[in-house]
Amino acid sequence: MKKQRIAVAYSGGLDTSVIVKWLQEKYDADIITVTGNLGQMKELSGIADKAYKTGAKKVYIQDLRKEFVQEYLWRALKTGALYEHTYPMATSIGRPLLAKALVEVAKRERCTAIAHGCTGKGNDQVRFEVAIAALAPEIKVLAPLREWEFRSREQEIAYCEKHGIPVSVTRANPYSIDENIWGTSIECGVLEDPMVEPPADVYQRTVSPSEAPDKTTTVSIEFSQGIPVGLNGNRMDGVELLEKLNEIAGANGVGRLDLVENRLVGIKSREIYEAPAATVLHFAHRELERLTLDKEVSHYKAKIANDYADLIYNGLWFTPLKKSLDAFVDETQKTVNGLVQVKLYKGNVSVGGRSSPNSLYDTKLATYTEDDKFDHKASVGFITIYGLPVKTFYRVNKNGDLKKKRIPRRKKV
Ligand code: ARG
Repeated sequence: MKKQRIAVAYSGGLDTSVIVKWLQEKYDADIITVTGNLGQMKELSGIADKAYKTGAKKVYIQDLRKEFVQEYLWRALKTGALYEHTYPMATSIGRPLLAKALVEVAKRERCTAIAHGCTGKGNDQVRFEVAIAALAPEIKVLAPLREWEFRSREQEIAYCEKHGIPVSVTRANPYSIDENIWGTSIECGVLEDPMVEPPADVYQRTVSPSEAPDKTTTVSIEFSQGIPVGLNGNRMDGVELLEKLNEIAGANGVGRLDLVENRLVGIKSREIYEAPAATVLHFAHRELERLTLDKEVSHYKAKIANDYADLIYNGLWFTPLKKSLDAFVDETQKTVNGLVQVKLYKGNVSVGGRSSPNSLYDTKLATYTEDDKFDHKASVGFITIYGLPVKTFYRVNKNGDLKKKRIPRRKKV
């Protein structure tokens, strides 16, 4: 019989290393590892070597950064998607793209199954599996962490030692960290008590606001149709722009979040996030929209933003709803062109100025000087009709006396 082939989502960490060997033993399978480069700060150079040493038959390391930025992150940004009005969702939005890369390799390599290293109580298992179901319903999903025998990291380390799997755990890192170019997510250890303030060693890419420079750093961000295309006067592609902005904002202590959030699986969890560039870009994009979107679209779009954030967080990226909302948002972004100056100071973000060729701000209408072109008299008729329902209600139900004693009867003719 031909050997089974399994594609494994591989990060090179302890869990996914154990998975490679464990699946090989359990299913007598050939393992193909897939690692996605989403712009994480961690070095990926040693990863192929490590995967082979762990027993992988074939190793894929895919540079997904460009696609991630253009097809995923810019969509979240244009929509203004922040989960529970706060979290830019670096982890959540990376999963569907990793799933897509896994499916592509699995098909090319004629794998019958895809395995991931997510636990049975998190959101990520849902994101991976719903995405895979959409892209390749015929492929089976394996989630070893939901079924294997290991109960602790120590047991996994012992398994690695027994099988000669290279692991670089010296002093166990007390945190679980996931990162990419959009941000870092940190949980576990002392962070599990929501009353405990995060120790300094939690943070990976931002300085403490109190240790940030004592002077303001101003960045200017240029947008074209809602997409950032330039930083400080220089045009650049999205990956470079995010890398540079992460550096600048992180050095000013910008982008730290401490969030107790509602997971899809019903649990409340506490997570620390660092998203320096995402924080600045969401802020700047919002400022530009204030200038360029008309009132109705602006207010309506805010409702969509919330739905879109839920959709990303809840693993519904490859769905008709997501595509439909994209069409709406893309239409709104046609006029979101211009420049925003953002001031960064000790963890704070504020606006320095904004300008757009599509600006709806009309000085002649807004001004209180003699240049005023607004027709003040037109307001009289407007208020009369606008206020008519309110006036009618209180004429009938006078001064809080809302109970009428007699019911008017039909007049006899
Ligand atoms: N709570 C975040 C989410 O569901 C991040 C999950 C992964 N976090 C981690 N520290 N490994 O999107």
